[in-house]
Amino acid sequence: MYRLRVKTKSVHINTFGCQMNKADSELSLGVLMERGYRVAPDEASADVILFNTCSVRQRAEDKVYSRLAQLRQRKEENPGLLIGVLGCMAQKEAGAFFKRFPHVDMVCGTRMFDKLPDLLEKLEGNGKHLLATGEAGNITYYPKHRPPGRHTYQAFVTVIRGCDNKCSYCIVPSVRGHEISRSVDEIVAEVEALAQNGVKEVTLLGQNINTYGNDLAGGVTLGTLLQAVHDVTDIARIRFVTSHPKDMTPKTLEAMAALPRLCRHLHMPAQSGSDSVLERMGRGHTVEYYVKLIEEARRLMPDITIASDFIVGFPGETDRDFEETVRLMKAVRFQNSFIFKYSPRPGTPAAALADDVPLEVKKQRNQKLLKLQSEISLEENRKQVGKTVEVLVEGPSKNDQRRLVGRTPQNHIAVFEGRPDLHGSLTSVEVYDSTSLTLFGRFSGVLASSPENPPVVATTEDR
Ligand code: 5AD
Ligand code: SF4
Repeated sequence: MYRLRVKTKSVHINTFGCQMNKADSELSLGVLMERGYRVAPDEASADVILFNTCSVRQRAEDKVYSRLAQLRQRKEENPGLLIGVLGCMAQKEAGAFFKRFPHVDMVCGTRMFDKLPDLLEKLEGNGKHLLATGEAGNITYYPKHRPPGRHTYQAFVTVIRGCDNKCSYCIVPSVRGHEISRSVDEIVAEVEALAQNGVKEVTLLGQNINTYGNDLAGGVTLGTLLQAVHDVTDIARIRFVTSHPKDMTPKTLEAMAALPRLCRHLHMPAQSGSDSVLERMGRGHTVEYYVKLIEEARRLMPDITIASDFIVGFPGETDRDFEETVRLMKAVRFQNSFIFKYSPRPGTPAAALADDVPLEVKKQRNQKLLKLQSEISLEENRKQVGKTVEVLVEGPSKNDQRRLVGRTPQNHIAVFEGRPDLHGSLTSVEVYDSTSLTLFGRFSGVLASSPENPPVVATTEDR
């Protein structure tokens, strides 16, 4: 028997957390579009509202809880509205969502995104409180559609999912499971298709990208993958995140240095500058090894910039440990650092340790590192003044719509005056001023143009 299904339902997705989550939200929308859903122009008009969530710190979870609570009344007024929770919190909390928020219809974990259309279909057929947190999804499946609203010149490409590391503070291995790499061929095919659609910059994503290929046959490594993606010559810029110092090797740095379209930027979290804290964090590297890697990266690629993450107030972190972190920050001179107050995550090994650094001390250490990083960023950015840099234009500047904003290969944010049609173009910009966060410049030429201007639909709340 044939059934005619007319699906004109619209979907909106709110994304929290890391770049992997942004990529997963696109994937989810793409899968749903393949099955006839539309992307809603905003949350207020959507038939289906999804939250793609993050569990990395309590604060990330609290944001989602408060947004979900706000939807309770809307669901009462419009019972046909479907509300789904996806991703890391879905995996972690599972059925608990339905107890706390009975107006949530569906909870879908980190390995089931390809099942979303089936789940929604079941809900529309009067299913209730659907829970899908198993391993049954095809996590290497990628839809042909990219949702509208993504800049067509920049794309995230997930290359490895999950994490086999055992950082003692981290929830990721338990919510995202074991490492699974996609094949080089599959990734290259996706990058080629993106290039044909005008994409100029791809960011290869993995929670721990340096172990890419360990689970594949034939000795495939991140270096192999970088080379293969670099062979797609229409892609002007390649980035990859996130690097773990333990798994980063001088060989990967050499592979990077040999490939000119690989952006000279590394996001390689140090987390702490104290060996004893690193050991309790289960990081598997020392401060000395970390610094050696940075020295090697700079020897091979003198213009490379380095970004880091730091956790302050890890259990047992003394003033002296913290001073060692300050020393590391001063020695390496990061371009940028994300600094987080330690947040115990249930079920992680570190949660068994006493969270003994008082909140006030965590706050002070956080402030001190932020201030130091900001001073270093300002000094480093000042060195760019007078130079001409390459900027991939992302769109109008948030603070001043008459200006454009984009990034350099070294991941500096650059703002300059220019025509709106430069959106998506690779331009050259003469830097005349800077702050700790931004370079300001004058447009001095187009290196490669891109005709596009899509509206933005998926909202993202950055960390
Ligand atoms: N508490 C605070 N920060 C954390 N991070 C990961 N887990 C925790 C935690 N429990 C930070 C790390 C990581 C970044 C994504 O989040 O610095 O690199
Ligand atoms: Fe990304 Fe980790 Fe947050 Fe999951 S828990 S969204 S993997 S940062």
